[in-house]
Amino acid sequence: MGKNIKWGVIGLGKITRKFIHDLHLSRRGELYAVGSRSLDKALAFQKEMDCPVAYGQYSDLIADPEVDVIYIGTPHHLHYPLLIDCIKNGKNVLCEKPICINADQLLLVKQLAEDSGVFVMEALWTRFLPAFIALKEYIDNSGQSIKNITADFCFPTEYNPNSRLYNPDLAGGSLLDIGIYPLFLSYFLLGKPNQISVTGEVDRGVDLRFSGMLDYGSGITSFVSSDITCASKNEAVIKLDEEVIVIPERWHESNNFNILKNNTITQYFYPKIGLGYYHEIDHVQDMLTKNKVESSLFSLNDSLELMKIMDKVRSDLGLNYPMAIEEVNQ
Ligand SMILES: NC(=O)c1ccc[n+]([C@@H]2O[C@H](COP(=O)([O-])OP(=O)(O)OC[C@H]3O[C@@H](n4cnc5c(N)ncnc54)[C@H](OP(=O)(O)O)[C@@H]3O)[C@@H](O)[C@H]2O)c1
Repeated sequence: MGKNIKWGVIGLGKITRKFIHDLHLSRRGELYAVGSRSLDKALAFQKEMDCPVAYGQYSDLIADPEVDVIYIGTPHHLHYPLLIDCIKNGKNVLCEKPICINADQLLLVKQLAEDSGVFVMEALWTRFLPAFIALKEYIDNSGQSIKNITADFCFPTEYNPNSRLYNPDLAGGSLLDIGIYPLFLSYFLLGKPNQISVTGEVDRGVDLRFSGMLDYGSGITSFVSSDITCASKNEAVIKLDEEVIVIPERWHESNNFNILKNNTITQYFYPKIGLGYYHEIDHVQDMLTKNKVESSLFSLNDSLELMKIMDKVRSDLGLNYPMAIEEVNQ
């Protein structure tokens, strides 16, 4: 089969660069257009990335009838308005995490996507990695139940008002950027928690860290945390009835997991293709080829449940972003 799915990408930053690297590995998709707020930047990217079309405004790329599917790689605050714009233009979308700032925004996106019959998915790439597909299968077939999960994601940074991480107007902070991963792992393996209790520190409008417990009843729990001021081992541990699964650092992009049983460690390897974004790209293309409007692996309902968990964490932390980016309007 030739390359027949044309991608447009908007927001030409660090992650979009990695995304394009893996898109170039795809057999059935091609980079067709790049869109930036700056035409000069778009033209430079076009040349560097060997791309047919460049736009100096996101709206021009979104309106291009040749584009089959759009990847949104902008900071968080733009995901919601760009999703609305894409859907209104009948475009399929793969949007970086977090797909929106809050659950109310996502509810509207979900409704519009359903009404328009377009495919929309959150780029939660961990879900599509071979090791995580195998991990879920292993646990489901093990006949064991999960008793506890411990997962974190931390890295040390200095305060920098020019960084999106520290900018409340861009919905910065640890939770939406990296805390989403341990929360995802808990939701992926255990589903919706009965209760959530967290603590953390909010400084100058963004959370530096949060740490908390997701309670699933009968003492089954997940301990999760994220921090942008210190390092951690970035390892995930899943305790089953008879075994312990360790996903080694950096667990959210791991190629392997290790199983401890009776003092014996067994290693399972599932290498990813490219930088790992290949797998979410391939999944989207598979869904589009099959005319699906919903991902079979991570649906908008899954994104919504995860978003509701993050809303609760934010509410406990007293973390509100400026009204201008929290608003739900069409
Ligand atoms: N899946 C992953 O592994 C992963 C890793 C890192 C980040 N992410 C996610 O990817 C998204 C982007 O992160 P990033 O690290 O790539 O960010 P980045 O390097 O800062 O790039 C973001 C791009 O968005 C555009 N943009 C639009 N409005 C902007 C504004 N007000 N300030 C700054 N940039 C603006 C810019 O592109 P133009 O100038 O071309 O318009 C910019 O280059 C976030 O949602 C983040 O959570 C995902």
